[in-house]
Amino acid sequence: MLDLKRQYRPLHQELLNALGHVLETQQFILGEPVAVFEKAAAENLGVAHAVGCSSGTDALWLALASAGIGPGKAVVTTPFSFFASVSSILRAGATALLADIDPATFNLSPTAVEAVLDSEQGKSVRAILPVHLYGQCADFTAFSRIGKQRGLTLIEDAAQAWGAEWQGVRAGALGDLGAFSFYPTKNLSAAGDAGLVTTNSDNLAERARMLRLHGMRRRYFHDEIGWNTRMDGFQGAVLSVKLKYIAGWNEARRAVAALYDSLFAAAGVAESGPYPVHGVVLPHVAKGGLHACHQYVIRTKRRDQLREFLGARKIGSEIYYPVPLHMQEALKCLGYSEGDFPEAERAAHEVLALPIFAELREDEQQTVVNAIAEFLS
Ligand SMILES: Cc1ncc(COP(=O)(O)O)c(C=O)c1O
Repeated sequence: MLDLKRQYRPLHQELLNALGHVLETQQFILGEPVAVFEKAAAENLGVAHAVGCSSGTDALWLALASAGIGPGKAVVTTPFSFFASVSSILRAGATALLADIDPATFNLSPTAVEAVLDSEQGKSVRAILPVHLYGQCADFTAFSRIGKQRGLTLIEDAAQAWGAEWQGVRAGALGDLGAFSFYPTKNLSAAGDAGLVTTNSDNLAERARMLRLHGMRRRYFHDEIGWNTRMDGFQGAVLSVKLKYIAGWNEARRAVAALYDSLFAAAGVAESGPYPVHGVVLPHVAKGGLHACHQYVIRTKRRDQLREFLGARKIGSEIYYPVPLHMQEALKCLGYSEGDFPEAERAAHEVLALPIFAELREDEQQTVVNAIAEFLS
């Protein structure tokens, strides 16, 4: 599914030098290595501020808390994402409301969000939290309009979308705040857990910096109840090295996706979708967006049998995500039930992520497509 060693080997010496520098300076938490990365990250994304923290989950919480989202306030997000998109809202003490997805992109549907906002529950909504799923930006033309019209804060879950764009603007610079994860499988990855909050607002950035340090502006004077969610110096150093290569890696990922598209078409199994019939529906790239191709996700009817078939041939695949968030045991407290979000529920039965990373070889992709075509025949 993913061979991280292929990225690591050519960077071995450069990474060792960067880690050695952290040891020399002994700046293990925040400090210069993190400040250097924050500055370069902000420039790369085209935002005024980037605030390093300890994970993507913490970045979401930090973004919400910085925006003053807490008890008595509600946030609308998607049921088709990683758990943290919703759990961070609950962790902030707020209410999580869900709206269904667009079946073509799997991203939060602006129309469904507006329906929630117009409902009785919608009165307490203060923020919308779209997720740029699989590395493709949610429809920020619509979300920006809705946010402006209704005075809502927009918080991007950009965990999977480093380098993705919407109308020429980078993920992380589209909303009021953005949250990134540098989990080792992400396009831009740390050597452990790390995350980042982005914003163009001086005020929100200052709050994020204060909240990641136990609510301190002055040492041992606590203005608010924050948390310990600081980035390690080692992670800042690794990320600074990898940031230099991310544009090329994302380009390579897009080339892998384009080759999959043409191989599936040549095999005669590609379908236009959004729902599969006999073959596979290929990823839909929305107009106006630049896909970061974090995942290459196909849709097919006999998904579980296909996954077993691929597994028997030692071909990796993954299901992001098998259970929509409203049907997770831990989120029964949200009060939703099966049938509430039919698009998310259907997607959970049909999606399958195939191997995609910058160093994936053409012959390996051909093997994947041949196996899928064989299964379908
Ligand atoms: C969409 C999404 N949101 C949030 C997260 C949480 O990030 P982390 O694992 O760094 O806490 C992830 C990553 O796993 C993710 O994919």
